[in-house]
Amino acid sequence: MESYETKVLEPSDESIKLAGELLRNGELVGIPTETVYGLGGNALESSSAEKIFKAKGRPSDNPLIVHITEIDDIKPLVTDFPLLAQKCAEKFWPGPLTMILPKSEKIPPQTSGGLDTVGIRMPSDKIARAIIKSAGVPIAAPSANLSGSPSPTEAVHVYEDMKGRIPLIIDGKNSAVGVESTVISFEKNSIRILRPGFISAEDLTEVTPNVIIDDGVIHMLGKDVVAKSPGMKYRHYSPKAEVIIIDGNLENYEKFIQENADETDYCMIFDNDKLNVRNSTIKYGKNSEEQAVKLFSTLRKLDELGVKRAYARCPEKNGVGLAVYNRLLRAAGFQVIKV
Ligand code: TXA
Ligand code: MG
Repeated sequence: MESYETKVLEPSDESIKLAGELLRNGELVGIPTETVYGLGGNALESSSAEKIFKAKGRPSDNPLIVHITEIDDIKPLVTDFPLLAQKCAEKFWPGPLTMILPKSEKIPPQTSGGLDTVGIRMPSDKIARAIIKSAGVPIAAPSANLSGSPSPTEAVHVYEDMKGRIPLIIDGKNSAVGVESTVISFEKNSIRILRPGFISAEDLTEVTPNVIIDDGVIHMLGKDVVAKSPGMKYRHYSPKAEVIIIDGNLENYEKFIQENADETDYCMIFDNDKLNVRNSTIKYGKNSEEQAVKLFSTLRKLDELGVKRAYARCPEKNGVGLAVYNRLLRAAGFQVIKV
C-alpha cells in the first residue's frame, strides 16, 4: 500500500478546498460527520472505492454509503425513488438516515459491493457538507476505522487507525451523534430497519406505521441466512478487551459482579449507577443519547487501559438505545448474560 504522511487539519476554507481537490483526484480523506468520522472517496470512481477497502482492510462485498448534499443529487444515482423514500428524505434529511435504493449505472459495482442497490445519505454536519460540495462529486464513506474496530468519533481515532494510509484528516471535533446512521430499505408500504441509529423506529413511524426491525439487528444471523445488509454478518466494533453485556437491573448487576467478577475485570456502567464493588469502573453516559455519543470512545478506552474483560450494563432497547445495544452486542460478540 502507498504510504502517506497523514496531515490532520482544522476545518478552514483552505483545508476544505484541499480535501475537495484530493477527493476529486481519487485520494481518500478522513471527514467528520454528525454520526461518526467517514473515510471519504469519490463514489463514482471504482479505483477510489478499491482504495477505501484496502485502507480499511474491509471485505469488498460490504457496500459503501454514498453521501450527497441536496435531495436532487440522488436522482442520477438511483433508478427508483419511491414515494415512501421521498417522504423520509423530506422529513429526516439532512441527517443520520441512509436509504437503500436500486442503483443507477453511475455507481460502480465496487462502491455497492457488487449489489444492485446503493445506500444514500445526506449528512447534516456543516463541515461534511462543505467537503462534499468542494469535491463536487458524491462521496462514498464508510466509518473511518480499520475493519472490525470501534468506529471513530474523534479525529484522533481516525489518525490511530489510518495513519500512513491516507493523506488528510479534517478535525471536526467530536461527532455529535456518536453511532452510525440508521440504515433502511423499502418493501411495498413498509420500511425495514437494517441498522438502528439516531433516527429511531419510533421516529420512522411518523412516515408510515409499517416499520419492521430486521432480525439481524439484535440477533446473530444463522450461517444459512442471507444478510439483507452485508455489514450484519461481519465482526464489528470490537475492542481487544472481552466485553460481556449483563442484562438486568442495577441491583442484580451489582450482585453478579460481586459473585463472579475477577479483580481485574472492569465495570462498564451508566453515569448515575452507584455500585458497591471492588472493581474499577468506566462510565459511558447517563441516558441513551449520551451512551451513543460515548460508546465507541469508551470501547477504545478499554484497550488503552489494557482491560482484559469488561462487564457492561445493558442499554435500553428502544429509541436511540436500540442503536447503542446493537453496537454493544457486536462489540461483545453477542455475549449477553441475563440477571
Ligand atoms: O453514519 C454513517 O452511515 C457512517 C458515516 C461516515 O456516514 N458511515 C457508515 O458506513 O457507517 P459503513 O460502511 O461503516 O456502514 C455501512 C453499512 C454496512 O453495514 C453495509 O452493509 C450497509 O450500510 N449497506 C450499505 N449499502 C448497502 C446496500 N446496498 N444494501 C444493504 N446494506 C447496505
Ligand atoms: Mg463501519
